[in-house]
Amino acid sequence: MDDLKPSATLALNARVRKLRADGRKIIDLGIGEPDFDTPAAVKEAGKRAIDENKSHYTPSAGTLELRKAICAKFSRENNLDYAIDAVMASNGAKQVLYNLFMATLSAGDEVIVLLPYWFTYADQIKLAGGKPVFVQSKEDFQPDLNKIRAAVTGRTRMIVLNSPSNPCGVVYSREALIEIGELAVEKNFLIASDEVYEKIVYPPAVHHSIAALDKRFFDRTITINALSKSHAMTGWRLGYVGGPREVIKAMDDIQGQTTSNPSSITQGAAVEALANEQPEIPLMVKEFAQRRELVCAALEKMGVKVVKPSGAFYVFADFSPFFNGVSDSVGFCEFLLEKAGVALVPGNPFGMPNYARVSFASSRQNLAQAMDAVAAAVR
Ligand SMILES: Cc1ncc(COP(=O)(O)O)c(C=O)c1O
Repeated sequence: MDDLKPSATLALNARVRKLRADGRKIIDLGIGEPDFDTPAAVKEAGKRAIDENKSHYTPSAGTLELRKAICAKFSRENNLDYAIDAVMASNGAKQVLYNLFMATLSAGDEVIVLLPYWFTYADQIKLAGGKPVFVQSKEDFQPDLNKIRAAVTGRTRMIVLNSPSNPCGVVYSREALIEIGELAVEKNFLIASDEVYEKIVYPPAVHHSIAALDKRFFDRTITINALSKSHAMTGWRLGYVGGPREVIKAMDDIQGQTTSNPSSITQGAAVEALANEQPEIPLMVKEFAQRRELVCAALEKMGVKVVKPSGAFYVFADFSPFFNGVSDSVGFCEFLLEKAGVALVPGNPFGMPNYARVSFASSRQNLAQAMDAVAAAVR
């Protein structure tokens, strides 16, 4: 427990709540979830599940109907053909990841994590007895294959990929994914591919599932997804996964002895979400695209060097030229909270202390006000 860090964003939320309670107006750009409603048809399916008394235990991995919908979704949208016993559902992608690390890591096993990374990976790997090995990405946040290769040892068990990425929005190129896949085959390690932001991608970027690029990659990849970000359903808690049968079986055994099935009501809603087009999703992505332009333009005007995100709803930028009397992003974000009344997440927990994450899961009006306040504060 001494090694486990509490979630950085949850800590920030508590601080924002306290300042608001003291009467301060705070614009929170630390948000990690879409500020949109769950699609209407999905809400109706959830209500139907209640009315039809779908209120009993289901198989730990999810109902047969849901697992069929997961298989069909992977096949239709990702070109991945998983058998029914090679997929399962959990309480969000977070539980999928936890099950995965618990199922596959022995004490001292190493897992390559690319910087900047979503902090939960590191803490969950440690909880499972493993050791995260951090590898810096290139300046445009694409993976640096030479550095990844240099980090591989006899203990390397897995690499974690997250494209589109939280916190930097990078979408890995097909070429980079193929290079990583080939290395995983050569050195015999697993690939965990967290694709929860796959639907939030800005053209010309294209999302590729690494498991679909080569049969040999498919055989060693665990593809992780969730309704949380794609369908604005964070609170419903529905993650899902496809992978090698024996890995999924082990993950299901862990889930069966811990939480059992995700909520039966949520599963009813999830079948609708996965089986049918939801017209609200492209509208949400269109709105995110406009906000991305607004935030990137405002940051550039301030003199911040921006790598424009190709996916997700975050800009991860280097604010160190503004560090004046503070040593890192934690101090800088404190300063912004005090001076500008704007909350950003410092880059430290993502492994890059010169950076901060700006979420654009907030209205354009809020974003414009926040960017003005940040610009005035740094001036
Ligand atoms: C990259 C990434 N993976 C997984 C998750 C967890 O998603 P869920 O809410 O489905 O557990 C998040 C949530 O912030 C995330 O950013």
